[in-house]
Amino acid sequence: MGDFSSLGLSDWLVKQCKQLGISKPTPVQQNCMPAILEGRDCMGCAKTGSGKTAAFVLPVLQKLSEEPYGIFCLVLTPTRELAYQIAEQFRVLGKPLGLRECIIVGGMDMVSQAMELSNQPHVVVATPGRLADHIRSSNTFSMSKIQFLILDEADRLLEQGCTDFTKDLEVILGILPAKRQTLLFSATLTDTLQELKSIAMNKPFFWESTSETRTVEELDQRYILTPEKVKDAYLVHLIQTFTDEHDDWSLIIFTNTCKNCQILTMMLREFNFPTISLHSMMKQKQRFANLAKFKASVYKILIATDVAARGLDIPTVQVVINHNTPGLPKIYIHRVGRTARAGRNGVSITLVTQYDIHLVHSIEEQTQTKLKEYPVEEKEVLKILTQVNVTRRECEIKLESTDFDEKKEINKRKQLILEGKDPDLEAKRKAELEKIRSQKKKFKQKIQESIQRQKQGQLKKNLMKRKQIKKKKAEQAAA
Ligand SMILES: Nc1ncnc2c1ncn2[C@@H]1O[C@H](COP(=O)(O)OP(=O)(O)OP(=O)(O)O)[C@@H](O)[C@H]1O
Ligand SMILES: [Mg+2]
Repeated sequence: MGDFSSLGLSDWLVKQCKQLGISKPTPVQQNCMPAILEGRDCMGCAKTGSGKTAAFVLPVLQKLSEEPYGIFCLVLTPTRELAYQIAEQFRVLGKPLGLRECIIVGGMDMVSQAMELSNQPHVVVATPGRLADHIRSSNTFSMSKIQFLILDEADRLLEQGCTDFTKDLEVILGILPAKRQTLLFSATLTDTLQELKSIAMNKPFFWESTSETRTVEELDQRYILTPEKVKDAYLVHLIQTFTDEHDDWSLIIFTNTCKNCQILTMMLREFNFPTISLHSMMKQKQRFANLAKFKASVYKILIATDVAARGLDIPTVQVVINHNTPGLPKIYIHRVGRTARAGRNGVSITLVTQYDIHLVHSIEEQTQTKLKEYPVEEKEVLKILTQVNVTRRECEIKLESTDFDEKKEINKRKQLILEGKDPDLEAKRKAELEKIRSQKKKFKQKIQESIQRQKQGQLKKNLMKRKQIKKKKAEQAAA
């Protein structure tokens, strides 16, 4: 494998890479960077932790150094934390250029963001929602001359999940020049290939790592089969074991809801584990602060929802625990990819109840890897079961006495207001829709019943007719 110079990077960039301990290009960098430097659109699909970020940051910096102006490059990404991480890579690698980058994400001050945008930064890293808001509300900046549009975690940006970015993307694409280079990256691009191809317009260069498996070899993938009620006891037992054995490890626990995330954090703190949380119901500043503390190993355990599933690069993470089995293999791939990055080893443990076994099968099918059972001393788990469950219940009660659910409702209302909708009107509309739906359902049921009655009536008639014919035939035969 060649080095960065042979891929066409200038000496100053090669030097920057070396300073960061990056001396040999990874396969995704080796393959995609020449195409990007040639001016082609590019789609790169490579496993988690394989250096996709540098694969787009380096060529952009190279091109920018040849013709520096702002706004030169726009990077879109699904989460705010990831936007900061990408911007940091630009900042560190682009230091000799005096790079000016700007981060546009929700939950932060919009006025100062608008000012930064109007100062024509070289690179803008944004989440789609907030950038679209800026486009809708001001005309103090222009993106009509950008050279690069980059979609990191491109498949997530285009899928219609719980956060749907498609409308915001339309707004953003509307102000971008048609003549530009579009670069799309993710560890799971293939499902959304067609949609992606329509965004990258000029016959994109497509590169996908050839490996059969979709997770990295260095990752030891395990599962524990457990009844729902024993899950938390397993979790506490696992954390106890890991923290007893390794003092330089940190772990991420993924869970399905913000509320569960909060309860687990409270519960683990009751057991004196250094735990911190990350979920979308927290204030943005708190989210950043918590992540920074986790990165600095002030707290060794991060409990997060899927807001932390993609892209985050934290080298100390040795273990990922899935407190719930992810419903989609894709989510599993990204979650467990928070460990075993850049050639390091890591372990993932998925807690599986009897109702999740089919999910594990589809994960195994998609990743082409068999999950192995994680050996646990069940006796030890049963010893702490009652204490753990009582503690959890206490934490639930504590949380219920706070305004957590109320906050959720308020957040929903805020979101509606931001989308330009009246929350009360929306609630009314929802109720009306529900009413219409239930009326429709009743109406359908009635129709179905009457059809059924008619059918039965018809059947009866037919039977009677047949009987009469039989009777007649019998009478005729007798005569
Ligand atoms: N050529 C290289 N050699 C060694 N380390 C590298 C190289 N390129 C990148 N890295 C490091 O590898 C780590 C993972 O990189 P990165 O975050 O870009 O992965 P990714 O492919 O984007 O993963 P994900 O799919 O999870 O987003 C980073 O810490 C980065 O500094
Ligand atoms: Mg990435």
